[in-house]
Amino acid sequence: MSKSRRFAFALVGMLRMLRAEARKGWGRASIVALVFPLAMLYVVGTLVVSAVRQALPSSLASPSREAGCGVDPRLRHRYRGSQGLIDRLERRIVGAVLRRVGALPRVLDVPAGYGRFVSRLRAVAVRPLVVADVSVKRLLALPTAAAPLLCVCVDIERGLPFRSSAFDALVNFRYLHHIGDSKRRSMILAELMRVSRRYVVVSYYQGSNLHALFRTLHTATRGDRRPGPAMMDWRELEASCHLVGWRVVLDRRVLPWVHAQRVALLERVG
Ligand SMILES: C[S@@+](CC[C@H](N)C(=O)[O-])C[C@H]1O[C@@H](n2cnc3c(N)ncnc32)[C@H](O)[C@@H]1O
Repeated sequence: MSKSRRFAFALVGMLRMLRAEARKGWGRASIVALVFPLAMLYVVGTLVVSAVRQALPSSLASPSREAGCGVDPRLRHRYRGSQGLIDRLERRIVGAVLRRVGALPRVLDVPAGYGRFVSRLRAVAVRPLVVADVSVKRLLALPTAAAPLLCVCVDIERGLPFRSSAFDALVNFRYLHHIGDSKRRSMILAELMRVSRRYVVVSYYQGSNLHALFRTLHTATRGDRRPGPAMMDWRELEASCHLVGWRVVLDRRVLPWVHAQRVALLERVG
Protein backbone atom coordinates (compact mmCIF):
# COMPACT_ATOMS: atom_id res chain seq x y z
CA MET A 1 0.00 0.00 0.00
CA SER A 2 1.34 3.44 -0.85
CA LYS A 3 2.36 5.86 1.89
CA SER A 4 -0.43 8.32 1.03
CA ARG A 5 -3.10 5.55 1.26
CA ARG A 6 -1.70 4.37 4.59
CA PHE A 7 -1.75 7.96 5.78
CA ALA A 8 -5.42 8.37 4.68
CA PHE A 9 -6.42 5.12 6.46
CA ALA A 10 -4.62 6.19 9.61
CA LEU A 11 -6.27 9.61 9.51
CA VAL A 12 -9.75 8.03 9.31
CA GLY A 13 -8.86 5.57 12.11
CA MET A 14 -7.54 8.40 14.28
CA LEU A 15 -10.62 10.54 13.70
CA ARG A 16 -12.90 7.64 14.68
CA MET A 17 -10.89 6.95 17.82
CA LEU A 18 -10.79 10.61 18.80
CA ARG A 19 -14.53 11.05 18.16
CA ALA A 20 -15.23 8.02 20.40
CA GLU A 21 -13.07 9.60 23.13
CA ALA A 22 -14.77 12.99 22.75
CA ARG A 23 -18.21 11.42 23.24
CA LYS A 24 -17.16 10.28 26.73
CA GLY A 25 -17.38 13.81 28.15
CA TRP A 26 -15.92 17.32 28.22
CA GLY A 27 -12.67 16.27 29.89
CA ARG A 28 -11.97 13.75 27.16
CA ALA A 29 -13.08 16.23 24.47
CA SER A 30 -10.49 18.78 25.66
CA ILE A 31 -7.78 16.11 25.62
CA VAL A 32 -8.77 15.29 22.04
CA ALA A 33 -8.63 18.96 21.05
CA LEU A 34 -5.11 19.13 22.47
CA VAL A 35 -3.83 15.80 21.19
CA PHE A 36 -5.14 15.93 17.64
CA PRO A 37 -2.91 18.79 16.39
CA LEU A 38 0.08 17.19 18.15
CA ALA A 39 -0.68 13.86 16.48
CA MET A 40 -0.91 15.56 13.09
CA LEU A 41 2.38 17.33 13.75
CA TYR A 42 3.93 13.96 14.58
CA VAL A 43 2.69 12.39 11.31
CA VAL A 44 3.82 15.29 9.14
CA GLY A 45 7.16 15.50 10.98
CA THR A 46 7.82 11.78 10.50
CA LEU A 47 6.98 11.99 6.81
CA VAL A 48 9.33 14.95 6.36
CA VAL A 49 12.17 13.24 8.25
CA SER A 50 11.78 10.00 6.27
CA ALA A 51 11.70 11.97 2.98
CA VAL A 52 14.89 13.84 3.96
CA ARG A 53 16.57 10.56 5.00
CA GLN A 54 15.75 9.01 1.64
CA ALA A 55 17.00 12.06 -0.25
CA LEU A 56 20.37 12.14 1.57
CA PRO A 57 23.21 9.80 0.60
CA SER A 58 23.43 7.08 3.30
CA SER A 59 26.86 8.26 4.46
CA LEU A 60 25.37 11.66 5.36
CA ALA A 61 22.11 10.41 6.84
CA SER A 62 23.51 9.54 10.24
CA PRO A 63 27.27 9.83 10.75
CA SER A 64 27.15 8.20 14.21
CA ARG A 65 25.39 5.16 12.75
CA GLU A 66 27.89 4.90 9.95
CA ALA A 67 30.79 5.14 12.39
CA GLY A 68 29.40 2.26 14.45
CA CYS A 69 30.14 1.95 18.15
CA GLY A 70 29.96 -1.71 19.02
CA VAL A 71 26.15 -1.75 19.04
CA ASP A 72 24.51 -4.47 17.01
CA PRO A 73 23.28 -2.86 13.73
CA ARG A 74 19.88 -4.60 14.17
CA LEU A 75 19.39 -2.67 17.41
CA ARG A 76 20.24 0.64 15.72
CA HIS A 77 17.71 -0.12 12.99
CA ARG A 78 14.95 -1.24 15.41
CA TYR A 79 15.27 1.63 17.86
CA ARG A 80 14.96 4.67 15.63
CA GLY A 81 12.66 7.68 16.04
CA SER A 82 9.96 7.28 18.69
CA GLN A 83 11.25 3.76 19.47
CA GLY A 84 14.63 5.35 20.24
CA LEU A 85 12.96 7.58 22.83
CA ILE A 86 11.16 4.61 24.45
CA ASP A 87 14.40 2.63 24.43
CA ARG A 88 16.24 5.45 26.24
CA LEU A 89 13.44 5.80 28.82
CA GLU A 90 13.36 2.04 29.41
CA ARG A 91 17.13 1.97 29.96
CA ARG A 92 16.86 4.91 32.37
CA ILE A 93 14.15 3.17 34.41
CA VAL A 94 16.06 -0.11 34.44
CA GLY A 95 19.14 1.83 35.59
CA ALA A 96 17.14 3.42 38.44
CA VAL A 97 15.68 0.06 39.47
CA LEU A 98 19.13 -1.56 39.47
CA ARG A 99 20.58 1.25 41.58
CA ARG A 100 17.81 0.55 44.09
CA VAL A 101 18.59 -3.17 44.33
CA GLY A 102 22.39 -2.74 44.41
CA ALA A 103 25.07 -5.27 43.46
CA LEU A 104 23.85 -8.84 43.07
CA PRO A 105 25.89 -11.98 42.51
CA ARG A 106 23.74 -13.87 40.01
CA VAL A 107 21.69 -12.08 37.36
CA LEU A 108 19.67 -13.50 34.44
CA ASP A 109 18.38 -11.53 31.43
CA VAL A 110 15.61 -13.50 29.70
CA PRO A 111 14.76 -13.04 26.88
CA ALA A 112 17.90 -11.06 26.17
CA GLY A 113 17.12 -10.30 22.50
CA TYR A 114 20.03 -8.34 21.04
CA GLY A 115 21.26 -7.46 24.54
CA ARG A 116 19.87 -3.97 25.15
CA PHE A 117 20.41 -4.31 28.88
CA VAL A 118 23.62 -6.30 28.88
CA SER A 119 25.95 -3.42 29.77
CA ARG A 120 23.72 -2.16 32.62
CA LEU A 121 23.24 -5.66 34.00
CA ARG A 122 26.95 -6.42 33.81
CA ALA A 123 27.52 -3.43 36.07
CA VAL A 124 25.44 -4.99 38.88
CA ALA A 125 26.16 -8.69 38.34
CA VAL A 126 29.07 -9.80 40.51
CA ARG A 127 29.38 -13.12 38.65
CA PRO A 128 29.24 -13.43 34.84
CA LEU A 129 25.85 -12.34 33.55
CA VAL A 130 23.59 -15.12 32.25
CA VAL A 131 21.60 -14.27 29.12
CA ALA A 132 18.93 -16.52 27.67
CA ASP A 133 16.71 -16.44 24.59
CA VAL A 134 14.92 -18.88 22.32
CA SER A 135 16.81 -17.48 19.33
CA VAL A 136 20.34 -18.82 18.90
CA LYS A 137 20.93 -16.18 16.21
CA ARG A 138 20.28 -13.43 18.74
CA LEU A 139 22.44 -15.06 21.40
CA LEU A 140 25.33 -15.34 18.93
CA ALA A 141 25.02 -11.63 18.11
CA LEU A 142 25.53 -10.55 21.73
CA PRO A 143 28.67 -8.55 22.55
CA THR A 144 31.04 -10.89 24.42
CA ALA A 145 34.25 -8.88 24.03
CA ALA A 146 33.97 -6.62 27.11
CA ALA A 147 33.27 -9.37 29.67
CA PRO A 148 32.22 -13.03 29.65
CA LEU A 149 28.56 -13.81 29.14
CA LEU A 150 26.93 -17.18 29.79
CA CYS A 151 24.47 -17.75 26.94
CA VAL A 152 21.67 -20.30 27.31
CA CYS A 153 19.06 -21.19 24.70
CA VAL A 154 15.67 -21.47 26.46
CA ASP A 155 11.99 -21.58 25.65
CA ILE A 156 10.23 -19.72 28.46
CA GLU A 157 6.95 -21.41 27.54
CA ARG A 158 8.45 -24.83 28.36
CA GLY A 159 9.93 -23.71 31.67
CA LEU A 160 13.41 -22.43 32.48
CA PRO A 161 16.24 -24.98 32.79
CA PHE A 162 17.45 -23.53 36.10
CA ARG A 163 16.90 -24.70 39.67
CA SER A 164 14.64 -22.68 41.99
CA SER A 165 16.27 -19.48 43.34
CA ALA A 166 19.26 -19.98 41.01
CA PHE A 167 19.53 -16.17 40.52
CA ASP A 168 19.35 -13.15 42.78
CA ALA A 169 17.62 -11.07 40.12
CA LEU A 170 16.02 -11.68 36.76
CA VAL A 171 15.09 -9.20 34.05
CA ASN A 172 12.24 -9.98 31.66
CA PHE A 173 11.72 -7.16 29.22
CA ARG A 174 9.26 -6.80 26.34
CA TYR A 175 8.02 -10.36 26.55
CA LEU A 176 4.71 -10.43 28.46
CA HIS A 177 2.98 -8.21 25.92
CA HIS A 178 3.44 -11.01 23.36
CA ILE A 179 1.34 -13.35 25.52
CA GLY A 180 -2.37 -12.86 24.84
CA ASP A 181 -3.75 -15.31 27.40
CA SER A 182 -3.83 -14.20 31.04
CA LYS A 183 -3.48 -17.76 32.43
CA ARG A 184 -0.33 -18.32 30.37
CA ARG A 185 1.01 -14.93 31.50
CA SER A 186 0.46 -15.92 35.11
CA MET A 187 2.26 -19.26 34.58
CA ILE A 188 5.18 -17.50 32.90
CA LEU A 189 5.41 -14.98 35.74
CA ALA A 190 5.38 -17.83 38.28
CA GLU A 191 8.24 -19.52 36.39
CA LEU A 192 10.28 -16.29 36.36
CA MET A 193 9.74 -15.84 40.08
CA ARG A 194 10.63 -19.49 40.76
CA VAL A 195 14.18 -19.12 39.44
CA SER A 196 14.87 -15.83 41.24
CA ARG A 197 15.72 -15.77 44.93
CA ARG A 198 14.80 -12.12 45.46
CA TYR A 199 14.01 -9.78 42.55
CA VAL A 200 12.32 -9.87 39.15
CA VAL A 201 12.10 -6.83 36.85
CA VAL A 202 9.34 -7.18 34.24
CA SER A 203 7.89 -4.93 31.62
CA TYR A 204 4.26 -5.18 30.60
CA TYR A 205 1.70 -3.16 28.66
CA GLN A 206 -1.39 -1.68 30.27
CA GLY A 207 -4.17 -0.53 27.89
CA SER A 208 -4.00 3.11 26.79
CA ASN A 209 -5.95 4.74 23.96
CA LEU A 210 -3.18 7.18 23.27
CA HIS A 211 -0.82 4.28 22.76
CA ALA A 212 -3.32 2.81 20.27
CA LEU A 213 -3.36 6.17 18.50
CA PHE A 214 0.43 6.29 18.24
CA ARG A 215 0.45 2.75 16.87
CA THR A 216 -1.96 3.88 14.15
CA LEU A 217 0.37 6.76 13.33
CA HIS A 218 3.31 4.40 13.27
CA THR A 219 1.49 2.10 10.85
CA ALA A 220 0.73 5.08 8.63
CA THR A 221 4.22 6.47 8.51
CA ARG A 222 6.32 3.30 8.70
CA GLY A 223 3.99 0.61 7.36
CA ASP A 224 4.47 -1.37 10.60
CA ARG A 225 1.70 -4.00 10.55
CA ARG A 226 2.59 -6.22 13.49
CA PRO A 227 -0.32 -7.38 15.70
CA GLY A 228 -1.04 -5.07 18.62
CA PRO A 229 0.50 -5.85 22.03
CA ALA A 230 -1.42 -7.87 24.64
CA MET A 231 -2.50 -5.60 27.47
CA MET A 232 -2.37 -6.60 31.14
CA ASP A 233 -3.86 -4.74 34.07
CA TRP A 234 -1.62 -3.94 37.08
CA ARG A 235 -4.13 -5.83 39.25
CA GLU A 236 -3.43 -8.96 37.22
CA LEU A 237 0.29 -8.54 37.89
CA GLU A 238 -0.35 -8.07 41.63
CA ALA A 239 -2.58 -11.17 41.71
CA SER A 240 0.03 -13.29 39.88
CA CYS A 241 2.68 -12.19 42.40
CA HIS A 242 0.42 -12.75 45.39
CA LEU A 243 -0.29 -16.34 44.25
CA VAL A 244 3.36 -17.33 44.64
CA GLY A 245 4.32 -15.21 47.66
CA TRP A 246 5.77 -12.17 45.87
CA ARG A 247 4.78 -8.50 45.79
CA VAL A 248 5.08 -5.53 43.46
CA VAL A 249 7.41 -2.99 45.08
CA LEU A 250 7.62 -0.50 42.23
CA ASP A 251 5.58 0.05 39.07
CA ARG A 252 6.64 2.85 36.68
CA ARG A 253 5.07 4.01 33.42
CA VAL A 254 7.69 4.36 30.71
CA LEU A 255 6.06 7.39 29.04
CA PRO A 256 3.01 8.40 31.11
CA TRP A 257 -0.26 8.93 29.17
CA VAL A 258 1.38 8.17 25.83
CA HIS A 259 2.94 4.71 25.89
CA ALA A 260 1.29 1.60 27.37
CA GLN A 261 4.51 0.08 28.66
CA ARG A 262 5.23 -0.17 32.39
CA VAL A 263 8.20 -1.50 34.30
CA ALA A 264 7.67 -3.28 37.61
CA LEU A 265 10.07 -4.46 40.28
CA LEU A 266 8.83 -7.61 42.01
CA GLU A 267 10.24 -8.90 45.30
CA ARG A 268 9.86 -12.17 47.17
CA VAL A 269 8.01 -11.63 50.43
CA GLY A 270 9.89 -12.63 53.59
C1 LIG B 1 10.86 -7.91 21.82
S1 LIG B 1 12.28 -8.95 22.07
C2 LIG B 1 12.79 -8.36 23.65
C3 LIG B 1 14.24 -8.62 23.90
C4 LIG B 1 14.85 -7.88 25.10
N1 LIG B 1 14.28 -8.33 26.35
C5 LIG B 1 14.68 -6.39 24.93
O1 LIG B 1 13.87 -5.77 25.64
O2 LIG B 1 15.36 -5.82 24.09
C6 LIG B 1 11.54 -10.50 22.42
C7 LIG B 1 12.56 -11.63 22.53
O3 LIG B 1 11.88 -12.77 23.02
C8 LIG B 1 12.47 -13.91 22.44
N2 LIG B 1 11.50 -15.00 22.59
C9 LIG B 1 10.33 -15.17 21.94
N3 LIG B 1 9.71 -16.27 22.39
C10 LIG B 1 10.51 -16.81 23.35
C11 LIG B 1 10.41 -17.95 24.19
N4 LIG B 1 9.36 -18.76 24.11
N5 LIG B 1 11.40 -18.21 25.06
C12 LIG B 1 12.48 -17.40 25.14
N6 LIG B 1 12.63 -16.29 24.38
C13 LIG B 1 11.65 -15.99 23.50
C14 LIG B 1 12.76 -13.49 21.00
O4 LIG B 1 13.76 -14.29 20.41
C15 LIG B 1 13.20 -12.06 21.21
O5 LIG B 1 14.60 -11.97 21.35
